[in-house]
Amino acid sequence: MHAAIEHAHRDRDAAVERLLALLAIPSVSTQSEHADDIRSAASLLAERMRTAGLTGVRVDETEGHPVVYGERMVDDGRPTVLIYGHYDVQPPDPLALWTTPPFEPRVVDDVVFARGAADDKGQLSAHLEAIAAWHAVGGTPTNVKVFLEGEEEIGSPNLGAWLRTHASELQADVAVISDSAMIARGTPSIVYGLRGLAYMEVIARGPNQDLHSGLYGGAVLNPAGALARIIAGLQGEDGRVTIPGFYDRVRPLDDDERAELAAVPFDTTSFSKAAGRAAGWGEAGFSLKERIGARPSLDVNGLVSGWTGEGAKTVLPSSATAKISMRLVPDQDPGEIARLFEQHVRALAPEGLTIEVRSMTGAWPAVCPRDIPAMRAAESAYEVGFGRAPVFTREGGSIPVVADMAEILGLPTVLMGFGLPDDNLHAPNEKFELGQFFGGIDTCIAFHAALAEAHGTS
Ligand code: BES
Ligand code: MN
Ligand code: MN
Repeated sequence: MHAAIEHAHRDRDAAVERLLALLAIPSVSTQSEHADDIRSAASLLAERMRTAGLTGVRVDETEGHPVVYGERMVDDGRPTVLIYGHYDVQPPDPLALWTTPPFEPRVVDDVVFARGAADDKGQLSAHLEAIAAWHAVGGTPTNVKVFLEGEEEIGSPNLGAWLRTHASELQADVAVISDSAMIARGTPSIVYGLRGLAYMEVIARGPNQDLHSGLYGGAVLNPAGALARIIAGLQGEDGRVTIPGFYDRVRPLDDDERAELAAVPFDTTSFSKAAGRAAGWGEAGFSLKERIGARPSLDVNGLVSGWTGEGAKTVLPSSATAKISMRLVPDQDPGEIARLFEQHVRALAPEGLTIEVRSMTGAWPAVCPRDIPAMRAAESAYEVGFGRAPVFTREGGSIPVVADMAEILGLPTVLMGFGLPDDNLHAPNEKFELGQFFGGIDTCIAFHAALAEAHGTS
């Protein structure tokens, strides 16, 4: 193990160059004009896997963007780890707010700035660099299977089918994902719970064309105002979602878990700073940590109608559109929540308004088992990489593959993240600190050794 870490330390400058080359590819999954960039990222990663000593490396087509796969099978007696990452990224908009262009990665004071730096190219690269370092000193002490997808940021719509097709080939003891953040710099954390997602679009239509608001205002129902009243009917001022049945399946937090979450060193000042100086808000009776990780939420993600250009235009718009998403916790079912949402929106809609409701993305919430050898292995690996044992926490984001792997492959997941809370995920000036990258590589290297040891095969 030490030889692999020493090798990785000597190879750090080259590892940073490799990361920058990956970050320069604008592999935005949601925009079709980037389909070729997605492909370049996939083939670059396939090449990386080959040089890291993985075999059978291939780029698998799906109905959407491809999955890159490679493996290293040592022998059946060794534990097998299935590593997942995603090479697609969120759109970089709004571009004007970036200090340096999002796909011209820069290192400033040991911090890499680029779209995808932390989410997830930097973190998946930590795993590939770790495998490469082991390869340089004789190979990992574990069997390794790696798959990297290109559709995570759009909800992994084709990954379930890919997992089902390759279920026998993907058999493993545990899945590992580095696509989350540590609770703070210097305080590693293992995320054992993620929220799910139900993402909806609501289009409210009134008159079949825009109208003069002087000639028709007050005499014709305005879809923008009507949609605003519908949205207001989805959530109370206190943050409680008012959709009937919404909380029916929410698993209550027990006292032990509340005590454990309360002990997580969650700093409300840095939370507020990372949140653009926003004050805390939300459901009464729950801490901020609980609201983010263990309680469901509802947010308007986008809202458009009528004239939003310069100056004034007296118009009564013909339609209004809102994108609204709900974060879910166990045991909420994204399909059922989508139906309850639609029913309630229709019940709130006034006469004369035509409503279209579309379900865009769904992801199941997940809670990971903690009493498995791989968790102990990850704990000791963080001690090697960051000099400290991790705390256990729940996060508010979603990673659809976690529930998919549990259901389809019967696999537990360890979420061993290396980001920081202020990495600006999905926002301008996304960053990944080199200290996190290097610590992450060492942690990944140590994880293989610790897992092999836990299985008595080191
Ligand atoms: N890596 C994030 C999720 C995340 C971030 C988990 C920080 C834990 C801590 C992931 O790439 C992401 O953004 N997921 C989307 C999924 C959605 C499109 C289904 C999300 O959460 O919005
Ligand atoms: Mn991610
Ligand atoms: Mn993301």
